[in-house]
Amino acid sequence: MKVLGIETSCDETAVAVVEDGRTILSNLISSQARLHERFGGVVPEVASRAHLETINPLLTMALAEAGIWFGDVDGVAVTVGPGLVGALLVGLAAAKAVVVALDVPFVGVNHLEGHIYANMLEHGPVTEPYVTFLVSGGHTMLVHVPEPHVYELLGQTLDDAAGEAFDKVARFLGLGFPGGPLLDALAQKGDREAIRFPRALSEQDSYDFSLSGLKTAVVRYVKAERAAGRKPPTEDVAASFQEAVVEVQVAKTIAAAADKGVRKILLGGGVGANTRLRELMAERAGERGLELLIPPPELCTDNAAMIASAGFYRLQRGERTDLEVAASPSLPLSWAPSIAG
Ligand code: KG4
Ligand code: ZN
Repeated sequence: MKVLGIETSCDETAVAVVEDGRTILSNLISSQARLHERFGGVVPEVASRAHLETINPLLTMALAEAGIWFGDVDGVAVTVGPGLVGALLVGLAAAKAVVVALDVPFVGVNHLEGHIYANMLEHGPVTEPYVTFLVSGGHTMLVHVPEPHVYELLGQTLDDAAGEAFDKVARFLGLGFPGGPLLDALAQKGDREAIRFPRALSEQDSYDFSLSGLKTAVVRYVKAERAAGRKPPTEDVAASFQEAVVEVQVAKTIAAAADKGVRKILLGGGVGANTRLRELMAERAGERGLELLIPPPELCTDNAAMIASAGFYRLQRGERTDLEVAASPSLPLSWAPSIAG
């Protein structure tokens, strides 16, 4: 079954063709990062316009690269939310048009479920139960998945999402946009023990996360160094900040797995591309004999292959989405796309 996947929830226009939820036949991403760079963040109206310009040519290119044409598509999966509503609408409208023209099965996908299913592209079908840690520009969520498509939210961020904090600290350090990957690269040259930044909400307290205090501590440290006439060691600041973020994330994820009695951890979302998060999570999971599944970095960040994969598993269960489905900026993970097929 060849599923066409479409993703336009934020600043990446993405179209992919995936066979049986696993084999990527094409996976095209048109990034708008350069359009948003000068604003230091994603501007919703600019994002919507860019999606509009890109979606149709990208659709035909993705099919061509997969070596198929519209008539060969067996189903269409599209991100319904969460995300920027004007951005989501563009992908949703394109998907609906294809479905109406071809009369093929249609399924709406939760973007965050897509991030989980990026793992199925890399590792094949993953059986539940597991704990998944979802970290992106908009979300930080620790979720227990006892059975397919059942999501028990254990904790989430009380303020900034992890990617958002990475981007803000990177911006403060003058690194550019999006800052996460730039900060990751810089941190590799620094000493992560150099500065002891605060770790908020230890795993004994709860599975929620908070990064605003840490962010403030970084700003205060750099400003104090500058005021004292010293040039703050940017590499060390980056490495020490990253360590403070990642240490808490890993500790909570491991604790959640123990708490729920599961042997498997799945990582997903853009921050899942972070070198240190991948490394420390692997180390700590290994110490406890837990299986850790992570998509390759390029499938952690937003793409449409993950949407096609998540959609495939829903379609396979006979789930279908009504064509009247609306874009939803704050779609909960527990949302089910279905009217029975
Ligand atoms: O999942 P994603 O592509 O988009 C959302 O759904 O939000 O995540 C994007 C976020 C951005 O904040 C970006 O800076 C961050 O993921 N990111 C990283 C890395 N690569 C991407 N953060 C830290 N280290 C990275 N290597
Ligand atoms: Zn995402």
